[in-house]
Amino acid sequence: MFRIGIEEIEEVKKVIESKQLFKVNSGELQESQNLETEMREKFGVPYTLTMTSGHAALASALIGMGIGPGDQVIVPAYTYIATAIAVVAAGAIPVIAEVDESLTIDPADVEKKITGATKAIIPVHIQGFPCAMDQIMEIAKKYNLFVLEDACQADGGSFKGQRLATIGDAGAFSFNYFKVISAGEGGALLTKNREIFERALIYHDSSAVAFFGTQLDGVTEEPFCGQEFRTNEITAAILRCQLKKLDTILADLRANKKYIMDALAGDCAFIKSNDIEGDCGTTIGILFKTTAEADRFAEAMNAPGSIPGKTKKHIYADWASIMNKRGAFHPLMDPFKMEANKDIIPNYTKDMCQKSLDILCRVSYISISPDWTKAEMDAKIAEIKEALKA
Ligand SMILES: Cc1ncc(COP(=O)(O)O)c(C=O)c1O
Repeated sequence: MFRIGIEEIEEVKKVIESKQLFKVNSGELQESQNLETEMREKFGVPYTLTMTSGHAALASALIGMGIGPGDQVIVPAYTYIATAIAVVAAGAIPVIAEVDESLTIDPADVEKKITGATKAIIPVHIQGFPCAMDQIMEIAKKYNLFVLEDACQADGGSFKGQRLATIGDAGAFSFNYFKVISAGEGGALLTKNREIFERALIYHDSSAVAFFGTQLDGVTEEPFCGQEFRTNEITAAILRCQLKKLDTILADLRANKKYIMDALAGDCAFIKSNDIEGDCGTTIGILFKTTAEADRFAEAMNAPGSIPGKTKKHIYADWASIMNKRGAFHPLMDPFKMEANKDIIPNYTKDMCQKSLDILCRVSYISISPDWTKAEMDAKIAEIKEALKA
């Protein structure tokens, strides 16, 4: 979350004064409906669903794709565990692929990991770094796979001019506190595919969707039991304000990232970018030759958490519930114990993606603020240059 203030307060005040807080209502404000319309227009997709979280959007999309027991879904070795958990929530099995020096999924390794059970690929635009979507889409076409873009850390980013989350069959945004735009919590599913939309619509709000408003008008999918991932008018009011700010936040992040990278050119190497123009600009990744150099830099910057390989949250080796194959509390609900999955579960080991571990421990991040002044950026550049000498 970068910019939140008076605009959001005023819109939330109106919602509270209207006393219409439920998503489907007959009041004048219609925040949720307007938010979904504005998202469709902004991102150029025919279907959007706002939800309680990015995880909710990912899981709903997978259900919408018809993915379940007996299916494998390829995820990158470097992502928040929620990506892999969404696969398990659908009853399927995550297969972990290496990332390359862009820190996003390595298309060459994706191709190597495809089996007869593979149904989808989830490229994750981690830290707002766009994945190599042209190569991913080509592979998906060749093997007839779905592509679900996890753009939870990349609200508003793009790849070669096309918005992230709109290139694959479906995409997911997160609006939790740590994202480019935020309502504290929240998420959205975007898709061009009517089937995915109808199933995700039912799955994300399976008790209320049939009873409130006209949500099922024109829907041909038979209702089935799913989840309760419905949002509310307060969240929607905040997100409508945030959506209006999105492109300015991104422009300022990108300008500040460029200013700092230009000043550091020649002093250090950076991670590879698949599209620097579309990158969200939240993070600079400095790439070192050795882990010792990265460690020394992080220490000099007093930023021990800046090495992506050492966050304890985002590397496959740290995804305890996946690595330990604890797919559900009840054993009969656990995809790792299901008969349909018995021949398709990989042998997860902590060192199975050596290439990713090596790269991720040789990088140190600099987080960017869209609100930095030139003087603040110059001070940051001086601090980085000094730390690079360590
Ligand atoms: C890459 C990635 N995927 C999925 C999620 C899940 O989003 P949420 O926390 O909104 O469920 C996150 C959240 O941090 C994320 O970073």
